[in-house]
Amino acid sequence: MLRIRVLHGPNLNLLGTREQSIYGTLSLDAMDSAIMKLAEELAVQVDLHQSNSESELVTWIQEARTEYDGIIINPAAYTHTSIAIRDAIAAVGLPTVEVHLSNVYQREEFRHCSYIAGVAIGQISGLGPIGYLLALRGLHDLLTSSRRQKKTTASATSRRAAKGTRS
Ligand code: DQA
Repeated sequence: MLRIRVLHGPNLNLLGTREQSIYGTLSLDAMDSAIMKLAEELAVQVDLHQSNSESELVTWIQEARTEYDGIIINPAAYTHTSIAIRDAIAAVGLPTVEVHLSNVYQREEFRHCSYIAGVAIGQISGLGPIGYLLALRGLHDLLTSSRRQKKTTASATSRRAAKGTRS
């Protein structure tokens, strides 16, 4: 079973009440429930965390290295400031999708810079809560097809070995 860690950064605990014209009215709990529902349909194991602390987010990313197959992260304001979160993602080497509820490129200039984008496999920005669901589907598809490919390569290699032929 694929395992995906979902991380929400600072102030996302206030979703539903926070700047509703930008972030909408859905609470973080409601969003997490929608993510868990889709995960169940896709037979993916997800665990979800929110923190206002950069160090806690870094620790969860580090821990994911041995326990998870991929990460979905909305680093919130740390997107624009955190080399530590970028380095943690690069260090663990897990496929990571960066999600933003709002379209950060239509907002203030300082939000146009993401320290995370360069180490993520992709970024979804501006689609609201649907962004998390698309990230989950996308990561599921990529991980499933790369597992399938590995299996095909491994069985071709063992067939060749059984026949005593090379490459
Ligand atoms: C955000 C965008 C960030 O610029 C902002 O600091 C957030 C939320 C988003 O989801 O749109 O807190 O990541």
